[in-house]
Amino acid sequence: MAEYHLRVHDLSKTFVLHVLHGKRILGFEHISFDVPAGAFAGVAGRSGSGKSSLLKCLYRTYLADSGSILLTTAGGQTVDLVTAADDTVIELRLSDIGYVSQFLRPTPRVPALELAARPLVRRGLPRGEAHDRVISYFERLALPEDLWDGYPILFSGGEQQRVNLARALASDARLLLLDEPTSALDAALQADVVQLLAERRDRGTTMIGIMHDATLLGQLADLVLHMEHGRIVRRETNSDRVAGLDPRSLAIAG
Ligand SMILES: Nc1ncnc2c1ncn2[C@@H]1O[C@H](COP(=O)(O)OP(=O)(O)OP(=O)(O)O)[C@@H](O)[C@H]1O
Ligand SMILES: [Mg+2]
Repeated sequence: MAEYHLRVHDLSKTFVLHVLHGKRILGFEHISFDVPAGAFAGVAGRSGSGKSSLLKCLYRTYLADSGSILLTTAGGQTVDLVTAADDTVIELRLSDIGYVSQFLRPTPRVPALELAARPLVRRGLPRGEAHDRVISYFERLALPEDLWDGYPILFSGGEQQRVNLARALASDARLLLLDEPTSALDAALQADVVQLLAERRDRGTTMIGIMHDATLLGQLADLVLHMEHGRIVRRETNSDRVAGLDPRSLAIAG
């Protein structure tokens, strides 16, 4: 039977807006899916269908209201990201989980190279090595050299997105969460990013990626979850990679 990297069961999230007298807004509800180790799960759906909220709950930026997110760690343990202690989540973000947000919110006055190398340096990699690794991705993403010591807060959307991508790709994360990682890039750069992500996937990294472009998703995703109004309404499998798997990973549940 397939080895799962991530198993999401009956996950729900509602936002309560206290400034609006407790008004409730649905993020998503009753989401269940399993991602086999080394597979790319695509998430598609209209604007507002709950895709980013789901990804943020997987990264624990948001705390889900109910359900479970079982992650198999590099150390072989199973951790529920809904109930895990904050310290555990912080550790996992350094060792196991990378995240490319839909919008970069860079720390002011931190140069691009420093910002992208930070997770590696925090994990104890010598600064020079961390910089070299990031630079190799800056080069592949055609980020001009004179921006490397510039402040990303001043960059264009596409430049910020490339800093964000280099930061995630340079890490050793075994699970990458990607929220529209190519939305601000031109077609040539999008193709480069798809190539980089495909290489990473083929080296065994598990990925969950939100993408609006069905062609790009088709090139990367082994399975696609289609969301509508906060629910998964359809699933499709795209590749042989998931063909031999336990059918429960693809079944609609919850
Ligand atoms: N922090 C928050 N507080 C209140 N409501 C939120 C919050 N984050 C998301 N929402 C709401 O949850 C719903 C889903 O938003 P989400 O950002 O997950 O959509 P999305 O599918 O990623 O859309 P898009 O394609 O536009 O990025 C929306 O109605 C949104 O207003
Ligand atoms: Mg979004």
